[in-house]
Amino acid sequence: MLYNKNQYMPVSSGISVNNNLEIGGCDLAGLAAEYGTPLYIMDEETLRANCRDYMLSFSSNYSDVMIAYASKALSVLGVLKIIGEEGLGVDVVSGGELYLALKAGIVPQKIIFHGNNKSPQELIEALQAGVGLIVVDNLQELKNLEEIAGRLQKKASILIRVTPGIEAHTHDFIKTGGFDSKFGIHIERVCDFIEEIKHCNNIDFAGLHAHIGSQILEVNPFGFAVEKMTELIEKIQKRNHLEIKILNLGGGLGISYLERETPPPVAEYARVIGQELKYNLERRKLPFPKLIIEPGRSIVGRAGVTLYTIGAVKENKNIRKYLFVDGGMSDNPRPMMYGAKYAADIVSKISSRKNEMVTVAGKFCESGDVLIKDIHLPAALSGDLLAVYATGAYNYAMASNYNQNPRPAMVLVGQGKSRLLVRRETYDDLTAKQE
Ligand code: LLP
Repeated sequence: MLYNKNQYMPVSSGISVNNNLEIGGCDLAGLAAEYGTPLYIMDEETLRANCRDYMLSFSSNYSDVMIAYASKALSVLGVLKIIGEEGLGVDVVSGGELYLALKAGIVPQKIIFHGNNKSPQELIEALQAGVGLIVVDNLQELKNLEEIAGRLQKKASILIRVTPGIEAHTHDFIKTGGFDSKFGIHIERVCDFIEEIKHCNNIDFAGLHAHIGSQILEVNPFGFAVEKMTELIEKIQKRNHLEIKILNLGGGLGISYLERETPPPVAEYARVIGQELKYNLERRKLPFPKLIIEPGRSIVGRAGVTLYTIGAVKENKNIRKYLFVDGGMSDNPRPMMYGAKYAADIVSKISSRKNEMVTVAGKFCESGDVLIKDIHLPAALSGDLLAVYATGAYNYAMASNYNQNPRPAMVLVGQGKSRLLVRRETYDDLTAKQE
C-alpha cells in the first residue's frame, strides 16, 4: 500500500504485507536482512521522477536549457548512469568526480568542470576529456588554463564564476553568493576580467555562472539572481562588446527534511527562472543565451533513506531517552556540520502512535554525534530498524571512516527488486591504502 504522505519520503514509500515500511516495493526489514545495516537505500522511482520534473519544467519555460546534475551531492556510478539516461548533463568539482562521470558514460560535452582551486593536473584531465565547459573562478586559474590549453593545443570553453552579492536564507556554510564568499569574481569586476580573457589565445569565453547557495526554500532569491545577471549581460555587451552565449544559474533549490518544510515545486522554480529571464532579456533587447541549471540536492535528496539498527536504548532519568544506532556522524555528518534536522520512522511501527520523545545518537566517540535531537517516535526496542529520510544528498558523498568504521553499502530499489550500487566496506578496505 502506498504511504508517501510526507514530502521527505521517497515517492514509492509504502507499507508492506508485513506492516513494515517499504520503498520501491522492497520491505526494509528484508533489505536489512539481505544487506545489513547501516544501509543507504536509493529509490529509482523518485530519482527518475525528479530528473523528469526538471527536464520537463525547464524546457516548458525556456527554449534552450541544459540540466546538469551537481554530482557533489552523490557521485555513484549507478546513480550517474540513471541521471545520464534521463538526459541530464553533470557538474563536477574535481578530477575524481570527472573520472566517475566519464566512467558512468556521461558525454564529455555535457560535463561542466567547477572548483575554486583546480590543480594543473585537473585542468589537464578536463581538457583531455573534452569537457563542455570549465568554470573559471579567478585570475590565476585563467592564466593556468591558458598556458595548459596552449601546451595541449586545445581550446578551453569557459564560463566566469560570478559572485552576484545575493544573500539567500540558508546556513552560513552553504551560502555562496555573498560578496564575502571564497567563490568567484565580484560582479563589479567581471568586465575587467573579460578584458583579460581577450588576451588569451586558447580560451573561448562562452558566458557566466552564478550559484547563490544551497537548501533555499523560496523562489525570490533566484528571480533576483536572474535580474542581476541580466543586468551584467547588458553591461558586458556595452563595455566588452561580447555576446553571452551561456548563462548558468547553478543549483540550490531546497528539499523537505521535516514536515514543516515545504520547498517550492520544481515547476514553480522553473517558471520563475524561465519567465524572469525572458522578461529581463526582452526588456533589454538582449539575445537569449542557453540556460544551464545545476541541481544536486533536489535530484537525489528525497530518493535516499538511511536504514539503521537500534542497539541500546538508554534513559538518562528525567532528562532524555537515547536510541543508539549502528551509524551516525560518519555516514551523515550534516547534523553536526550544519545543525541539519531529519525525520525518521521505525520500520515495523510505521502506523503506530508517535508517543515518545527520544534522541537518536550514533556510535561514534563524540558527544556531538547526535543524528536527531528530540523526535517523536513510537516506543522503540533494541533490534528495531530506524529509517532516516531524505539522506540521498551530501550523506554518502561526505561520509568518512571516523573511528575506523567501514562505510555502509548502498542499494537501488524499484519495482520490488534491489541491487547493490556500492558494496559495504570491509576491515581490509580500512588498511588497503596503508603500507
Ligand atoms: N552548482 C554549484 C556551483 C554548487 O556550488 C552547488 C553546491 C550546486 C550547483 C548544487 O547545489 P544544490 O542543488 O545541491 O543545492 N554539503 C552541503 C551543501 C553544499 C553545496 C555546495 N554547492 C550540505 O550538505 O548541505
